[in-house]
Amino acid sequence: MLDRLQPPIVLAPLAGGPSTPALVAAVCEAGAFGFLASGYLRPAALAEQLAELRSLTRRPFGVNLFIPAPRPADPATYAPYVEEIGRWAGARGLPVGEPWFDDDAYTEKLDLLIRDPAPVVSFTFGMPDAEAVGRLHDAGSEVWVTVTTPSEAAIAVAGGADALVLQGTEAGGHRGSFSDDDSRPGYSTLSLLQLLAGTPRPLVAAGGLMSGAGIAAALAAGARAAQLGTAFLLCPEAGTAAPHRAALRRGDVPTKVTRAFTGRAARGIVNEFMAEHDAAAVSAYPEIHHVTQPLRRQARADGDAAAINLWAGEAYALARELPAAELVRVLATELADAA
Ligand SMILES: Cc1cc2nc3c(=O)[nH]c(=O)nc-3n(C[C@H](O)[C@H](O)[C@H](O)COP(=O)(O)O)c2cc1C
Repeated sequence: MLDRLQPPIVLAPLAGGPSTPALVAAVCEAGAFGFLASGYLRPAALAEQLAELRSLTRRPFGVNLFIPAPRPADPATYAPYVEEIGRWAGARGLPVGEPWFDDDAYTEKLDLLIRDPAPVVSFTFGMPDAEAVGRLHDAGSEVWVTVTTPSEAAIAVAGGADALVLQGTEAGGHRGSFSDDDSRPGYSTLSLLQLLAGTPRPLVAAGGLMSGAGIAAALAAGARAAQLGTAFLLCPEAGTAAPHRAALRRGDVPTKVTRAFTGRAARGIVNEFMAEHDAAAVSAYPEIHHVTQPLRRQARADGDAAAINLWAGEAYALARELPAAELVRVLATELADAA
């Protein structure tokens, strides 16, 4: 897939609303490669999105799956944090959910993608097992795996990944690391590319890439393509919520990696919820995600940017408000100028 990709630009999967079939189709029709995000979608909703996407484009596309956490977190570790969130939400009249554990219907979504294959299936938060990789290959899909360290890259190569998505610490949204462990080092996109230059698989660079010049830098350091997420959040085809768009447009507030919203490290624009809860937040995903989800949904509906996860990469101030196809064309022109 990557050999033929021109321009070498990949639209990242953007779970939680921004990913839409219209956005993916526009990117693919413009000659780049787009991912649908299946994270948080019920299997039936994924099937609907796949059907809609296929009605909009005949070009190849990818679907991203979250690898579920291996086991529930210990309730004793997150109970005080859940109480803190409950008090904060209660004072504002916002709803909270229960801290339950689930696998985000991983098996059902994987089965769906075996029955109804996509040209590429990418994984985040871990390495699919050998059986899943084998079934996807038999179905004709390439398997891409998101990695954030050299040791995760070695596991992905050994496990049969066809390409590695190297996600640097600059990236917006969740860290795609195999485990949410504080003791692990974080690597920037360029550091990862240089460290993994000898990898016997094509590399896709992700994190902080917002312009043709940034993409050119990644390609010069050995990437076969660049995966951009934040750059597409202001496209009209994206499902980005209005208060999230407004925060992206302001561009003057820094981003930070926090576990406050979901119990898993993720980068977003600093707001009141993050500032108040970052220090007490714990690693417990998806339990904390389920606790804050009703609160975030209500805040989005109210247009209240103070209480929602404003996922964005470090360089988000460079996001452009252009139709997706035009953004792909502008990036391709900038890339040609920079190369
Ligand atoms: C709103 C948002 C949602 C994201 N959702 C996903 C996802 O569902 N799966 C995934 O692998 N990565 C997801 N990411 C991370 C991207 O794949 C990618 O690593 C990141 O966007 C690259 O950095 P950038 O945002 O600076 O371009 C998301 C990022 C953002 C900003």
